[in-house]
Order: sequence, then C-alpha cells, then structure tokens
Amino acid sequence: MKTSSDLDSEKRQAALKATEFVHDGMIVGLGTGTTSKHLIIALGERVRAGLKIHAVPTSHDTAALARHSGIPLIESDNAWMIDLAIDGADQVDPAFNLVKGGGGALLKEKIVAAAAKQFIVMVDHTKLVPALGGSFPLPIEVVPFGWGSTARHIETASGGKAVLRQRDGNVFQTEAGHVILDLHMPNIDDPAALEIELNQIPGIVETGLFIGRTSILIVGNGRRADVTHARGS
Ligand code: 5RP
Repeated sequence: MKTSSDLDSEKRQAALKATEFVHDGMIVGLGTGTTSKHLIIALGERVRAGLKIHAVPTSHDTAALARHSGIPLIESDNAWMIDLAIDGADQVDPAFNLVKGGGGALLKEKIVAAAAKQFIVMVDHTKLVPALGGSFPLPIEVVPFGWGSTARHIETASGGKAVLRQRDGNVFQTEAGHVILDLHMPNIDDPAALEIELNQIPGIVETGLFIGRTSILIVGNGRRADVTHARGS
C-alpha cells in the first residue's frame, strides 16, 4: 500500500520529467496543484541556473510560487503564444481525457491549455482510471446567480448529484468570482458528449472535462516516470 508521501514522490518524479520538455525561449503555461508545485520549484532551479523562459500562471498561488522561484511571468492578457502548458489532473482515462478542477483552478487551466501548442499532463499512478467520474466528482464552475437552478439542469442532463463546493465552512469562490458544483455521478460513458451537453446549460462557465487536449502524459510510478505521447500529437 502506497503512502501519501510515496504518491508525492511519484508526482515529483513526473514533474521533474516534465521539465525536460522545457527549453530556452519557451513560453510555458504553469498549472495549479501539488504536482505543479514540484514543477515550478524544479523549473525555478533551472531558471536560476540560466534557463530563459517566460510563464503564464493558472492561479494566484502558482503566480506567487513562480515569482518566488525567479520565473519571469507574462502579466499581460494579450494573445499568448504558449509553447507548452504543463499541469496535473484529478483523473486520466485511457484516451487521456481528464477531469480537472480539484483545486478550483479549472477555468484558467483550460484557457491556458487551449492557448498552448502542446499540453503535458503529469500525474501519480492513482490518477489513471478506466473511466472518468465514479470515485471523483466532476467540478463545474458556474456563476453564483441562480446556481440552484443551474444545479438542477446539470442533474437532469447527467443523472448525477451536483453539490455546491464549500471550504472551511464557507462557499468556495473561484478566482473569477464564480462557485463550483461538484457533480457526483457513476462512470461517465461518453465524456465528450457530456461536455457538449453541459456547455449548453446557461450559468455554466466551464466544466472540468478536458477532452482531447492532452499531448503528452507523464506518470510517476515509483521506479520511473513513464512518458506517453497521445495519438496524433
Ligand atoms: C487544480 C487541478 C489540479 O491539477 C488537480 O486537482 C491535481 O492536483 P494535484 O496535482 O494536487 O494532485 O485541476 O484545479
């Protein structure tokens, strides 16, 4: 049985492998979460040793750690030319589709992944699942106005149960001022179809489904980090 420290080592292993894809002159999208923290710390060491990159952060926490690590950030919101976005995930299915948003940063994470030429996903081995859903609820970012009605529409469309995310006894608020509904449902048979269906519901800002976006998957498994290129990448 692996401990949480074993899993953290796997995350670090995957993150260190991901840094090998970062080269001088690149603009890099930096994800959010514990795996991304390992990435940022390792990239910071390389930057201090002379690596020349700029980064686009996907959350305030990521921006703060990147600044602290000496990684220059692109502060402007002009159209970015991101070479590579690198991020963690909550679940990865055999087609490399993802559930993300456990940390609540899914909106910026998806915008940055969509703006990048390549999207590298780094995970520990427990994130690999035969099908999305089931053990991990799907985060959905919605506007606070009418969230209860939005939740009802989501439940009708999915057959699941949408629960308003709380943190420390308060409603969790995203950096964009929205709230998150965590959708508990059995395995998602057709994630692409569900994403299309959810995107038609007024009030939904973004879902944590990342369909067909992964270019490279890196999995830490304790012994090494396995790198697999997605078909067509
Ligand atoms: C944050 C995310 C994270 O990438 C996801 O929750 C994985 O986090 P961790 O690397 O801590 O396991 O989507 O919104």
